[in-house]
Amino acid sequence: TGAVTYDPGFMNTANAKSAITYIDGDAGILRYRGYPIEQLAEHSSFLEVSYLLIYGELPTQQQLTDFDNVTRRHTLLHEELRDFFGGFPRDAHPMPVLSSAVSALSTYYPDSLDPFNKDHVERSTYRMLAKVPTIAAYAYKKSIGQPMLYPDNNLTLVENLIRGCFGVPAEQFELDPDMVKALDTLLILHADHEQNCSTSTVRLVGSSQANLFASVSAGINALYGPAHGGANEAVLGMLRQIQSGDVSPEAFMEKVKNKEAGVRLMGFGHRVYKNYDPRARVVKGLADDLLAKLGGDDELFDIAQRLEQKALEDDYFIERKLYPNVDFYTGLIYKAMGFPEKMFTVLFALGRLPGWIAQWREMIEDPSTKIGRPRQLYIGEPERNYPGA
Ligand code: CMC
Repeated sequence: TGAVTYDPGFMNTANAKSAITYIDGDAGILRYRGYPIEQLAEHSSFLEVSYLLIYGELPTQQQLTDFDNVTRRHTLLHEELRDFFGGFPRDAHPMPVLSSAVSALSTYYPDSLDPFNKDHVERSTYRMLAKVPTIAAYAYKKSIGQPMLYPDNNLTLVENLIRGCFGVPAEQFELDPDMVKALDTLLILHADHEQNCSTSTVRLVGSSQANLFASVSAGINALYGPAHGGANEAVLGMLRQIQSGDVSPEAFMEKVKNKEAGVRLMGFGHRVYKNYDPRARVVKGLADDLLAKLGGDDELFDIAQRLEQKALEDDYFIERKLYPNVDFYTGLIYKAMGFPEKMFTVLFALGRLPGWIAQWREMIEDPSTKIGRPRQLYIGEPERNYPGA
């Protein structure tokens, strides 16, 4: 065998050729299929961005209507899958519930499992886009002990998600248009980010020809970690700790800089961005607007802004090119919308779903795809004899 390259964390290894997302981390640029993220966040919708990522071009009005209809038609879960939620403990974190339920979709849809059959791939795409918001809402309802609401197919996916989380059967539910728009924008910002940890996981699992449900379920588990999607939840924990007076912002920053017990400024730093994360700029603008409208927690927002200010002026962060990432302010917005902290990463997963699907499909269609199988540098014992052998 030839020499292998040791590259922990794949810092310098490209595992895919991709035409989906472009990032220039030094300049702070992010584009989906060539379109700047700022323009998509302002003018597009999550549904349209999903289409763009998956099919490569913006849809015509007719294509968008068809895509909307077909995804709306698939929002229901199989009744037996509904029962599945009863098996989890009452206080179950919704991320493992989400990944388990998505994995279980493979058992209900044998007509959607063949990665090389175009109809199967289309069906699993629609089913996934339509059912994951329903699963997310069920996982939330389970965690608070309220009845699960069947989706209403007169509503968009984002509207159904909000109603599914905050509606109750006993009352008419009023959607807040500001909240719908803001959540739609946040989902756009999360929709793809090239070969991040969860997307690489989806590709790696899919490279063994595992079906889309199985591959995405693996991606959801990768996203669960606090160094990845779990950061939005961890940011709030950090802000609360400071708010409670346990530690002052100054003392917290000292701990971070001294690397005490691995404490990091959560929501800061990125493998690729060595500049302000362009998504974080949009989120900061949304936070300013929305917290005023929805009445967010001003004290936590103040603490976040103070931390950001301190970090941007501090040599430790300047030398390492650490800037706020997309998750620094998202948690505050989700909180103002009424989502509990454990739902934050679920919202990230919903946003990333079209990206995972697009990347999985691109991989399946690429004739140069090979099963993902990294090498290693063996550092263990040389051959030795079993006692008595
Ligand atoms: N606070 C303090 N120091 C940090 C931070 C931080 N948030 N991030 C990186 N550093 C330091 C790190 O200690 C290292 O210092 P040194 O050179 O002295 O050893 C240097 O910066 C480089 O860090 P790294 O860990 O080698 O960089 P990485 O590319 O492996 O890690 C990261 C990227 C995002 C995992 C990391 O910045 C981090 O842990 N951030 C906090 C968690 C977070 O906000 N994650 C969300 C990322 S954005 C959403 C997503 O894509 O999931």
